Amino acid sequence: MKFTADQAETLARIQMWRRDVRHFKREGVTEDVLERLRAAMDTAPSVGNARPWRVIRVEDISVRSAVRAEFERCNINAAQTYAGPTKDAYLALKLAGLDAAPVQLAVFTAVNPDEGHRLGRLTMPQTLRQSTAMAIHALWLAARAENLGLGMISILDPKRIETILNVGADWEFSAYLCIGWPESDDDTPLLHRAGWQTNNGTRWEVR
Ligand SMILES: Cc1cc2nc3c(=O)[nH]c(=O)nc-3n(C[C@H](O)[C@H](O)[C@H](O)COP(=O)(O)O)c2cc1C
Repeated sequence: MKFTADQAETLARIQMWRRDVRHFKREGVTEDVLERLRAAMDTAPSVGNARPWRVIRVEDISVRSAVRAEFERCNINAAQTYAGPTKDAYLALKLAGLDAAPVQLAVFTAVNPDEGHRLGRLTMPQTLRQSTAMAIHALWLAARAENLGLGMISILDPKRIETILNVGADWEFSAYLCIGWPESDDDTPLLHRAGWQTNNGTRWEVR
């Protein structure tokens, strides 16, 4: 398979316009689109091909409410770690789209999967979590290519989310993902537009 310059340009544009989305329309996402997103995760690389990511699609309203309450609690706690104008700026940020996102995925990492027979992770156990991050990124780009938005949430207590979702001890919480049709799109991260930080570009040295 050889790709054309146009296709490479399309990929670059999908990457540039990926962005973390926190503002969603309430319109739902059809099952065939969701199936394509699930399949995109299948394409991700993983240590020893262990494919340790586990996904729960959260539909239960009471579970969604519990996750949202947990986010509010953690977000307020995080705000307390700042002071003065930085605290005000933090509180003004929208850091989750839990109020409107029609699709919500809780992503976990299996911390001791049989798959892969431990290949590649003996010296670097964190590679299981890294593998899950790669699957999330594959999903993120696939979602964007469908004109969907995805927002990743980490302002949560992993142990509490594991309890809320009632998962076994061998599943470690990795991230909570909100997916839906974005209210708008942009090629610049919201945190840059909000003045929270600027983009320094990738540090890439030659030694
Ligand atoms: C591991 C990880 C955790 C993140 N957690 C959150 C979060 O809790 N809330 C949020 O609004 N964005 C979260 N983000 C999104 C980042 O804020 C976002 O990726 C960053 O500001 C760059 O913006 P961009 O994704 O639009 O390029 C997370 C992203 C990653 C990779």
